[in-house]
Amino acid sequence: MVKNTNAMDATTKQSLVFAVNGRSFELCNVDPSTTLLEFLRYQTPFKSVKLSCGEGGCGACVVLLSRYDSATDKVEDSTVSSCLTLLGSVNGCSITTAEGIGNSKDGFHPIQERFSGFHASQCGFCTPGMCVSFYSALINAEKSNDRPEPCTGFSKLTVSEAEKSIAGNLCRCTGYRPIVDACKSFASDVDMEDLGFNSFWRKGESNEVKLSRLPPYDRKNATRVFPEFLKKDSTVGANVDSQRCHWRSPVSLEELQNLLQMEGNEGTSMKIIVGNTGTGYYKEHVHYDKYIDLRYIPKLSIIRKDSTGIEIGAAVMISKAIETLKEENEGEFSQEAKLVFEKIGDHMEKIASRFIRNSGSVGGNLMMAQRKHFPSDIATILLSVDTIVEIMTGQSRLKLTLEEFLGRPPLDSRTVLLSIKIPCWELSRGVSSDAHDKLLFETYRAAPRPLGNALPYLNAAFLAQVSLRESPTGFMLKNCRFAFGAYGTKHAIRVKQVEEFFSGKLLSISVLYEAIKLLETLVIPEDGTSRPAYRSSLAVGFLFEFLSPLIDSTVKVPNGSVNGYNRASLFEYSTQEHDRFSQTKFPTLISSSKQEVGLKNEYHPVGEPTTKTGAILQASGEAIYVDDIPSPKDCLYGAFIYSTEPRARVKGIKLNHGSSPDGVIALITSKDIPGFNLGSKSFFGSEPLYAEELTEGVGQRIAFVVADTQKNADIAANLAVVEYDKENLEPPILSVEEAVERCSFYNVPPPLYPKQVGDLSEGMAEANHRILDAQIKLGSQYYFYMETQTALAIPDEDNCMVVYSSIQCPEYAHNTIAACLGVPGHNVRVKTRRLGGGFGGKAVKSMAVASACAVAAYRLHCPVRVYVNRKFDMIMSGGRHPMKITYSVGFKSNGKITALKLDILLDSGMFVDVSPIMPAHMLGSLRKYDWGALSFDIKLCKTNLPSRGAVRAPGDAQASYISEAVIEHVASYLSMEVDSVRNINLHTHNSLEFFFPTSAGEPSEYTLPSIWERLATTSSFYDRTKMVKVFNRCHKWKKRGISRVPIVYEVSMRSTPGKVSILRDGSIVVEVGGIEMGQGLWTKVKQMTAYGLGLVKCGGAQDLLEKVRVIEADTLSVIQGGLTAGSTTSEASCEAVRLCCNVLVERLIPLKEKLMEKFGSVEWETLILEAYSNSVNLSAIELYVPNFSTMRYINYGVAVSEVEVNLITGETTILQTDIIYDCGQSLNPAVDLGQIEGAYVQGIGFFMLEEYLTNSDGLVITDNTWTYKIPTVDTIPKQFNVEILNSGNHKDRVLSSKASGEPPLTLAVSVHCATRAAVREARRQVLSWGGGNEAGSTLVQLEVPATMPVVKELCGLDIVQKYLQWTIAKN
Ligand SMILES: Cc1cc2nc3c(=O)[nH]c(=O)nc-3n(C[C@H](O)[C@H](O)[C@H](O)COP(=O)(O)OP(=O)(O)OC[C@H]3O[C@@H](n4cnc5c(N)ncnc54)[C@H](O)[C@@H]3O)c2cc1C
Ligand code: FES
Ligand code: FES
Repeated sequence: MVKNTNAMDATTKQSLVFAVNGRSFELCNVDPSTTLLEFLRYQTPFKSVKLSCGEGGCGACVVLLSRYDSATDKVEDSTVSSCLTLLGSVNGCSITTAEGIGNSKDGFHPIQERFSGFHASQCGFCTPGMCVSFYSALINAEKSNDRPEPCTGFSKLTVSEAEKSIAGNLCRCTGYRPIVDACKSFASDVDMEDLGFNSFWRKGESNEVKLSRLPPYDRKNATRVFPEFLKKDSTVGANVDSQRCHWRSPVSLEELQNLLQMEGNEGTSMKIIVGNTGTGYYKEHVHYDKYIDLRYIPKLSIIRKDSTGIEIGAAVMISKAIETLKEENEGEFSQEAKLVFEKIGDHMEKIASRFIRNSGSVGGNLMMAQRKHFPSDIATILLSVDTIVEIMTGQSRLKLTLEEFLGRPPLDSRTVLLSIKIPCWELSRGVSSDAHDKLLFETYRAAPRPLGNALPYLNAAFLAQVSLRESPTGFMLKNCRFAFGAYGTKHAIRVKQVEEFFSGKLLSISVLYEAIKLLETLVIPEDGTSRPAYRSSLAVGFLFEFLSPLIDSTVKVPNGSVNGYNRASLFEYSTQEHDRFSQTKFPTLISSSKQEVGLKNEYHPVGEPTTKTGAILQASGEAIYVDDIPSPKDCLYGAFIYSTEPRARVKGIKLNHGSSPDGVIALITSKDIPGFNLGSKSFFGSEPLYAEELTEGVGQRIAFVVADTQKNADIAANLAVVEYDKENLEPPILSVEEAVERCSFYNVPPPLYPKQVGDLSEGMAEANHRILDAQIKLGSQYYFYMETQTALAIPDEDNCMVVYSSIQCPEYAHNTIAACLGVPGHNVRVKTRRLGGGFGGKAVKSMAVASACAVAAYRLHCPVRVYVNRKFDMIMSGGRHPMKITYSVGFKSNGKITALKLDILLDSGMFVDVSPIMPAHMLGSLRKYDWGALSFDIKLCKTNLPSRGAVRAPGDAQASYISEAVIEHVASYLSMEVDSVRNINLHTHNSLEFFFPTSAGEPSEYTLPSIWERLATTSSFYDRTKMVKVFNRCHKWKKRGISRVPIVYEVSMRSTPGKVSILRDGSIVVEVGGIEMGQGLWTKVKQMTAYGLGLVKCGGAQDLLEKVRVIEADTLSVIQGGLTAGSTTSEASCEAVRLCCNVLVERLIPLKEKLMEKFGSVEWETLILEAYSNSVNLSAIELYVPNFSTMRYINYGVAVSEVEVNLITGETTILQTDIIYDCGQSLNPAVDLGQIEGAYVQGIGFFMLEEYLTNSDGLVITDNTWTYKIPTVDTIPKQFNVEILNSGNHKDRVLSSKASGEPPLTLAVSVHCATRAAVREARRQVLSWGGGNEAGSTLVQLEVPATMPVVKELCGLDIVQKYLQWTIAKN
């Protein structure tokens, strides 16, 4: 129902008015607690807003929210996450999504064009959010008046701002570098030389030419026009009554009090909200009757500055607070106060991401800390500066110190935080002013991501007045406040005993040591907190970092006189001395990157860096993914109920425990399956769709709740209670050791089990040294595709079913669905257009998702879809195979290894999935060195844990690590340089043939030795190795490491079909078995089609590329599609298409010759028309079947990585990575470059960041973006140089090309090895301080992933204490 707003009084308004991309919406009776994302995706055509996490952690759903301020007559534009923003709070706003920035109808925006041209979009699922985040930064920079006018074609934005604009957005495909380049291309201070490989210009062109080739950016069109009709509504909050709930926006404290009072009387459930971002952390599965939006109460939005401090209303957004704290406060405050405010602002910039800070309020944050013990940054930093808060309960208002506020029992839901007041800090405050006094203030935070978007392990803020004493000379602390928080405590605390301890004492090493001993007893995480010792060690480290510059002998009193030590030099404390601890500073996130790409046009347009097909549609959000397909009429939604017991009988499922779930239509279990209970079927076995009597492991699907909306289905599934019975059941197998004890294994078909190499006992006998039975363990990794599992099943006539599935193997889903439904194969049709990322995770597991929808649709006679939420996706996916490795290695004194024996136990989980491929995959990379002899025993353990899948570079990633761990161990044993041990064990072509008898290829194809040497030169490896040594000698608290690592990665081709059809107008339609999931398969296929048909050599045949369209996979149109996996599907699909083109060209050539004879020349369109008239068959379908003897081949590459480790926090910064990768002759260097960089960064995730943890039953506990941290733009190499080697002709390859999708992932082990080298240096240093054996030993088994706690633990959690003890003993 649409109402006329003019007639209404603003305060009793009953509708919501806002605009989306210029289109007005006036909604009555809408549920205002619907999220903006739900509204946009389900009730508008704007599908560019993607759901990926639903908790504010990824940026896929970011939109621009513009609000008009009538007081200033200005429009404020800021990004927000639409998955957390509620519809009630967008009244009067203008919302812009990616489609609104630009689109195919009205024209694309240069941002979108540049994203496409810089190859910054692969699967494209993150791209709309990225574009919106950047767009917001761009238009906001343009609005500022205090910036100089940029040159024509550029914006007012700086490079650093451009990079940071996307810091909170996750991308799993690209590795970020091209995205950053696309953004930087707008910056006023960009050096065009720094912009990476793109489709606009070629190397060597002048800057003017480069600029002229970029899609032009016109600043005149930069600002958005705010819809006039909204101007009056934008200052009014919504007051809406819907069937579901009421939304109130009080405009005064009195009104608020009345509302809260009423709540108490009516007994209804009520929630106060501001930005609603809190629900990103505290997920809510309940509906409230009433929402009270605090943003329109002046007292809560106040920002007041006076000489006593800054008062900030509780409803002020964090970003606004930052702006206030950091703005030039000319004359208003003392220098000390400015410093304090500014540093608080700096720290706040690391909270969440910009789009959360734009809607999350300061008060919301503090209330979460107060009521629910949220690990807040704001609470800690404000605690250290004596912040005062004002709260209101009923009519009474109360001012409290923040400490009192936090220390109170959780405040009730009717108590409102009104404002905070940060006092103005001056030297004279409470103490007598002294000419040599100085106020020091620093804040700290140790978190997996330096720029934010990650909760800290611990945060701290220290304020102290420091006084320089004359006799005895030294510093004395006065008036100090040391606050710590977020380390697993109820709330931030001040360590008053430590503060008091310092009182009246001159700072010295022993005083500091005593203080630290005291601190250790005070900062202790509560039981159940992860990494407690690490967190406590951070507290010690930070206090040491803060105070030690005041003691260190290098801080000298000039001329020995106190008078000479002026305020200025003390002031420098915070800048220079501090840098001794913090990471080396870089002006920008990615300081430089280079891509060297050799281009060849022998097979034009194959080999060209053509932009990715559909990239621009992905950037505008118009590209359609499964969940973007509009829901058919009467569509229902499903959600899985899964087992939380590893082995138990399912006695029953109760849906309505406590509260009755809304909208539930049905509960589908195994009993409802008309055919076989089949969730998936691969070459090696099958798994049931739903557990029958017995669950086999946690995360196993038990049932499917079907409801009227996805939200209701999710809520119902979440509330469902499964009753289990474990009586008289064998205990579950929860480790590989238990599996061995109980002989629980999966079989590997003998042809898939690789052969042993050489004679182990001979090799061992040859050795001078042996390491026996060393052990390592490896954990898992989650795919983290941005689009979670999804499918839509639509019943069709005559018992048929059409299923849209986001899957890497539609053919397999097809068979599974048919078996489930008990219908012949021809009754089922599975369609897949594109995937929002796959990485191996959308193979076996997606079949069950598709089948579940099909079964439900079949039973309920209506369409059923599911978009699996991130949590369940993470729980069910299983991820990489964890493993336990025992190795024995024999070697000579010069480092040459003569024999390696490996016993590997893989945890394959409850179902076989594709585990039997693992031994062959592992051996593909384990044979990267000449081990002399290699003997191995790989067992696939059947456990009651989630079944594991094939994650990008399955087995190879782990094998690369194992190989390098062995090399490192040998080097350490012999005290040799690791690089020399690698060098001496690299394969010769002879040894390569011995290890890879069927895939070694010709000697000329073995490019590894030359790449190995070449990279040493181009990356200045030897010089930098020396520089690292010098650096390590000079730095106590930072250590560097550098490592060069080769890869040898075997892949195998598989049969793949292709179909090429030429339409009457000469346009061409192509279908292939391979699925486009971001890897550029369609682009390569298009190029190959244009090349293949171009061989007909008629007029215009050279330019067929634009005439080719690759269309969705359809299992009834092209059969035998197989599986897109193993890095070779692109080339196999290309080959299939080339075969089709050959057939068509053969059919067309006689006709062409006839026409040529007649007319002298013939154009493509004429030729095709003639072919139609002459009934030439213009559709060809072929199955490419690789030649058995040449189907396997090896890929080579080398990486050099240099890292810096912070010994206080364990943080590793990747300073530089150089890669050379041999692509044979790249089919598309832009696509291959993207694959190399993206895979490498995903590898960084595996080796350094991503902890995929489970509880003891195997239930994934890192099941969200809060706990699972994939790389972000601030964790990739600061310098990232990649060279694609076009190594020439490879006769058995598809136009000489080689794979690029997975092998480069394993190069990321170089970062791990470099980190290990840095850790070794740290341990050597501890040894030199007389540290104990365990920290002093330089044999380092560094766990994977080498997260901050892991690195710090190896460097010594007590490294500071050791140093202090040593210093005290020395003096
Ligand atoms: C992805 C993400 C990452 C984050 N990272 C960090 C981080 O690194 N460090 C950090 O410190 N924080 C972090 N946060 C927390 C963030 O700062 C808070 O979510 C935000 O400040 C809450 O503000 P809000 O206005 O959205 O609160 P809401 O979600 O609207 O409210 C939160 C709670 O407080 C109550 N409430 C709100 N205002 C008041 C008031 N004035 N009086 C009484 N009750 C009130 C609400 O009823 C609700 O219970 C992160 C949040 C997200 C989503
Ligand atoms: S879906 Fe909203 S931030 Fe991830
Ligand atoms: S392109 Fe960024 S997630 Fe795929």
